[in-house]
Order: sequence, then C-alpha cells, then structure tokens
Amino acid sequence: MKFFLDTANIRDIEEAASWGVLAGVTTNPTLYAREGGTLADFHAHIERICAIVDGPVSAETVGLKRAEIVAEGVELAAIAPNVVVKVPVMPEGLAATKALAEKGIAVNMTLCFTVPQALMAARAGARYVSPFIGRFDDISEDGLEHLGNMVAALNNYDFGHDVEVIAASVRHNQHVVAAALMGADIATVPFNVLEKLVKHPLTDRGLESFLADWEKVKNA
Ligand code: G3P
Repeated sequence: MKFFLDTANIRDIEEAASWGVLAGVTTNPTLYAREGGTLADFHAHIERICAIVDGPVSAETVGLKRAEIVAEGVELAAIAPNVVVKVPVMPEGLAATKALAEKGIAVNMTLCFTVPQALMAARAGARYVSPFIGRFDDISEDGLEHLGNMVAALNNYDFGHDVEVIAASVRHNQHVVAAALMGADIATVPFNVLEKLVKHPLTDRGLESFLADWEKVKNA
C-alpha cells in the first residue's frame, strides 16, 4: 500500500514528504477552502504541492458539464506533470474522464460509493478510483465492507490500463489496516491519521527502556 496525504496544507505535506513515505497527495475543494485558499491562488497552490511531492497530486474540478470539466482538467494538468485531475463520478464526469484519458491526462474519479460507480469509473478511463469509507460510517453503514466490494469487483476485470484504488475518506488506523488487507493500492489520509499510523504504545515503551538502559551504559 502507498500512503497519500489527503490535505492542501503545505506544512503537513512537507513534513510527511520528509519522512520518505509520502507517495502522493489528494486535495478537494473543501480541503483547499480549509487552508483559506482563494480562486486566484488555486493553480499556484497546486503547483507548490506538486513541487514538494514526488508522486501524483490530485486537483479537483468543479464543473458540472463535460466541456467545463475537460477544460478545467486540461488547465490543471498543465500546472505540473504530476497533476492528476480529480473528477466526481456522474454521467458528465464519466464523459469528461473518457475525454481527458484520451488526451493522456490521468484522472482520479472521486465520490465513489458503489461497485457500479467504481467499475464505470475504470471503464471510462480513470487511472485512480476513490471509494470513500468514512462517509458511509457517518451514516451508520460499514464503509469497509463497501470498499472491499469495490476492490474485489475491480480486481475481477482488465480495463486495458492501470487502475489503482485510493481508499479515501479515511478516519482512523483501522480503516488503513483493513484497506491494506483488502488490497487497496493507496490510502489517502489526513495528516493526523498519518501521525497515528507510525505510533504504537509498545514502540514508545520500548524506546523509553532502551534510553534508560543506555543511561546505565553511559554511567557504567
Ligand atoms: O479526498 C476525499 C476524501 O478523502 C474526503 O474525506 O473525511 O471529507 O469524508 P472526508
């Protein structure tokens, strides 16, 4: 499994990149708004992220008609070679994904909640398919079961191009563990989850005892 950060926060992206584990970044309009982003600075902000990350950076379109989505996607893809255009799954989004894929532009199809949505995203030419987990949990459904179904269905077929599953809307470590065991290619996680993924109380306890014993060595 590869780890992506699901954020538009530059400091968090720089920190995760410094750990050597950051394989990509996903953003969306909500995450950009959370950083106080403006329309005028949007492309420059994506460019800043692309310069930090050695991997795909998803930037989302907001158009509802295929022509608008394609036009936005072409502009976003011109920002940097590692931009991936994020497109919501809907009929116009599928049509735009087909057109963008035909232009050689990688698409991350987002807001996938069902097996047919995931299959259609891949058929339309999406390079990445993003099933959401946490938002199912928010409405008392098992997001991991839905993710498992989407991963299994996608694995049944050859789409004629590489398709990677990005487990998205990740809220905690167990989402990541289960997604990895199901074979999701990527987990895109908020920075606070990434921090928790590297921690374990036994690691902390082990480190404490190693350091305490090293004091004995130094004083021997
Ligand atoms: O990037 C899309 C997805 O990860 C959003 O997650 O937490 O808003 O459901 P969330």
